[in-house]
Amino acid sequence: MPRPLIPDHILEIPPYPRGKPWRGLEEVRLSANENPLGPPPKALEEIRSSLAALHRYPDGLAEVLKEELAQYLGLDPANLALGNGSNEVIEMAVKVFLRDGEEVVLPAPSFAYYGIAVKARGGKCIEVPLRDFRIDLEAMARAVTPRTRLIFLGNPNNPTGTIFGLEELKAFLEEVPEEVVVVVDEAYGEFVTAEHYPSFRNYLEMDRWILSLRTFSKFFGLAGLRVGYGIGRGELVELLERVHQPFNVNLLGIAGAIGALKDREFQERTRRVVAEGKDFLTAAFEELDIPFVASEANFFLFYAGERKGELLEYLEREGVVVRDMEGYGLGGYLRVSVGLPEENRRFVEVLKAWKAREG
Ligand SMILES: Cc1ncc(COP(=O)(O)O)c(C=O)c1O
Repeated sequence: MPRPLIPDHILEIPPYPRGKPWRGLEEVRLSANENPLGPPPKALEEIRSSLAALHRYPDGLAEVLKEELAQYLGLDPANLALGNGSNEVIEMAVKVFLRDGEEVVLPAPSFAYYGIAVKARGGKCIEVPLRDFRIDLEAMARAVTPRTRLIFLGNPNNPTGTIFGLEELKAFLEEVPEEVVVVVDEAYGEFVTAEHYPSFRNYLEMDRWILSLRTFSKFFGLAGLRVGYGIGRGELVELLERVHQPFNVNLLGIAGAIGALKDREFQERTRRVVAEGKDFLTAAFEELDIPFVASEANFFLFYAGERKGELLEYLEREGVVVRDMEGYGLGGYLRVSVGLPEENRRFVEVLKAWKAREG
């Protein structure tokens, strides 16, 4: 059959580096940086009570969720753009600000979808390597040209979990022309404990085109519902909202997110379980002499060495799924999400058994 004419910029997008297919709730899934606690109970309550309205379209503006979220964050609803996951907000930003052939500067490696969204729009990715596993803000500023429209910064960056501080960001912004839009992806922002961590509050005070991204998929335990949001000045939000599908946040997503915001007990438990899990995994990596990157997120990048492929297989055979970083240009590295205490223990047990076996 003759093939339709497919634009080159689409053919240049490699297949998405997918995780392993999900084998059900019984596996120890430490591959997607999700919340291991399950969904927040209050989200489930809200979802249950909204089921009878599923034959209706949701509120297209998701006004109640916006109000609740604005109150939770302590800002104005006009600063919030909601999306079908923060992935959609990435796509909205690319649609609004990028034309064919224009450039986007991004760290490498970082979250894979930035590059996909840019290429799908016909844009050009200018990738700037990390330095010591951290985003090299100086090199990123140097990579900006008159054709640069957007810059993506993961803070924390995925897959390293490293952050930059407020002063570093301010110095970076001094070097970047004001008309370039800076997207700061804070998908893991709720897990950060470092005091010098800047947040959307700092950005809103600056007179700059900065878009922060946040999500209900990680800390709030609702990855399956697909709700994320962008925070920015009103003018920026208004532009983003012009380009998304009608009803982009679905009815159950709206209900679940409202419930998750109310569930303070779940949020506290998440913070505690992740912090304790990080301490546990840090101690285990140190004990086993496995190099890892100190992380402000709910995952760790660690070095498994030349026999990484064997370790990956061994873990999988034992029912523990972690993420291979080969597709991110990090040969020999794996990424593991912080799980429940028993899941972390299982991961470490299998690591230990493998080390003992392999010597
Ligand atoms: C850095 C980063 N940004 C965004 C996302 C996408 O999140 P969402 O589920 O909100 O689309 C992820 C998911 O893994 C991520 O790691």
